[in-house]
Amino acid sequence: MDILTAIQRRVSVRSYSKDIVDSTTLKRLINFAKKTKHLTTVLPRIELVSGVDKTNHILTSIIGSYGLVRNPPHLLIGIMPEESNITRIDLGYVLEQVVLEATKLGLGTCWISGSYNPKIAGSEVGLKSGEIVEVVCAFGYPAKEILERFHSRTIRRIAGGHHRKPLKEIVFYKNWSKSWSPEEEDPELVTILEHARLASSGANRQPWRLIIRPGNIVLTLVLTKPLWTGIANRLSPIVGVVKRNVLAKAQYIDAGIVMSHFTLVSEAIGQKGQWELRLGDKTLARECQLPKGVIPVAIFK
Ligand SMILES: Cc1cc2nc3c(=O)[nH]c(=O)nc-3n(C[C@H](O)[C@H](O)[C@H](O)COP(=O)(O)O)c2cc1C
Repeated sequence: MDILTAIQRRVSVRSYSKDIVDSTTLKRLINFAKKTKHLTTVLPRIELVSGVDKTNHILTSIIGSYGLVRNPPHLLIGIMPEESNITRIDLGYVLEQVVLEATKLGLGTCWISGSYNPKIAGSEVGLKSGEIVEVVCAFGYPAKEILERFHSRTIRRIAGGHHRKPLKEIVFYKNWSKSWSPEEEDPELVTILEHARLASSGANRQPWRLIIRPGNIVLTLVLTKPLWTGIANRLSPIVGVVKRNVLAKAQYIDAGIVMSHFTLVSEAIGQKGQWELRLGDKTLARECQLPKGVIPVAIFK
């Protein structure tokens, strides 16, 4: 399966078969995770937890969480060496490459930032001083039973995970005040943008906005409004409410995820380019005429 197909096929899977992934596939995935490309030098660490007893202990569906991810046989634990939004971006960038590799290997995955217990996850993998468990990612074989598949699809629907904003809403031309249209654009760039748009994001908020400029592309983030919007609202009667700060931090992971789609797809279609991180750069914000609440993240050139 090529990377474009993997991006198109990936969906969040929330019901798993309890079977451990076969050792060859698992080894391949873990080796892949070790050699994925990073964006920074403050590297996050990724550890594996296996066995439904352990993963269910880490995952919760109590008040203060959202999502119901059932019986994943494995969790990847994303650990940061210190509190840092740059490292959050890197974590998204690295772990999404693993998610897409897992998709290629026929596995289901689901990012989880809300419904897990970071203390239990930390004690399971052993944290060094200062380290923080930031996010986990479930993976395994998707459940085959009809009711379990129904559960996975239903939660995705309730979460609005099947919707994405149209490109015209998330892409701008030259600066924030000018709209962009795919009709007159280079088809290869449109392919890259279409696959960026399919990226997953916490509560499916799709906080990324892109500005196409002569010679480069700027990634920005629309920082989230308080909690009572989107998925959190819709899910709250069922499984509780995501803590506001969890969603706010997840946006930086979302940025890393969309950046990985960009890099992987442009590589696959032979368009060279790489990201330069410019998180919060005021000059860039002025050049792009970003409104309040929107921050620059990086430039692709
Ligand atoms: C950083 C991040 C955190 C997420 N946290 C959760 C979570 O705690 N629980 C959950 O059920 N889904 C979680 N998701 C999955 C999103 O809800 C999902 O990606 C989104 O709704 C889009 O749906 P899709 O992945 O099926 O395309 C998270 C996704 C991301 C990227």
